[in-house]
Amino acid sequence: MSYYAKIGPSILSSDLSRLGSECERMIECGADYLHLDVMDGHFVPNITFGHPMVECLRKSLGKEPFFDMHMMVSKPEQWVKPMAAAGANQYTFHLEATNNPGNLIKEIRQSGMKVGLAIKPGTTVEMLAQWAGQIDMALVMTVEPGFGGQKFMEDMMPKVRDLRRDFPSLDIEVDGGVGPDSIHKCAEAGANMIVSGSAIIGSDDPRSVIVLLRDAVVEAIQKRSLDR
Ligand code: DX5
Ligand code: ZN
Repeated sequence: MSYYAKIGPSILSSDLSRLGSECERMIECGADYLHLDVMDGHFVPNITFGHPMVECLRKSLGKEPFFDMHMMVSKPEQWVKPMAAAGANQYTFHLEATNNPGNLIKEIRQSGMKVGLAIKPGTTVEMLAQWAGQIDMALVMTVEPGFGGQKFMEDMMPKVRDLRRDFPSLDIEVDGGVGPDSIHKCAEAGANMIVSGSAIIGSDDPRSVIVLLRDAVVEAIQKRSLDR
């Protein structure tokens, strides 16, 4: 089994006026990576931040933290080079936002970043599966992208299950409404990279939430390897 349980807090619901220290706090609390939500007000009805912010975060946090950029933008091609230069580690784009995923995957790799491919709830898993052999991570959205704090869509779990069955060593991420109440469904379906925003950031004890989420995934991975 070549994939691991990793927990990536989404800092969307943190105090954005103190983003650097919020990221540091998450890392101190045991985050495995940071999930950074970029929104352009066009692909989704909300705006967050772009590569200048990422560059500042990289400078202040140092080389170590892994930045998974969730690019909720209409022209994902446009930001590959700026994000790579700013210090992003993984560029996760939406399949719905491009006509040429193959070319974009190539450009992301050439720029030295890992490739993540995301699908919105209305996009079928078959659309994503065509590219699964060429990417590092598949992101199955469990809410409509755009806002934190929404309700987890359990009916997305069959997508995760199908991907895990067909791509046993692929990193599979879930994002949206994931927390202590929904983690077991995600873990059992086969997700191993867990984005959680409000459930971690809003908790009095983020460290315990991160441990709880990770333990659930580790347990499910162990169970799957015994079942084989
Ligand atoms: C939603 C974003 C998510 C969001 C998750 O469009 O992609 O990363 O911040 O937040 P929660 O866990 O609160 O749903
Ligand atoms: Zn996200």
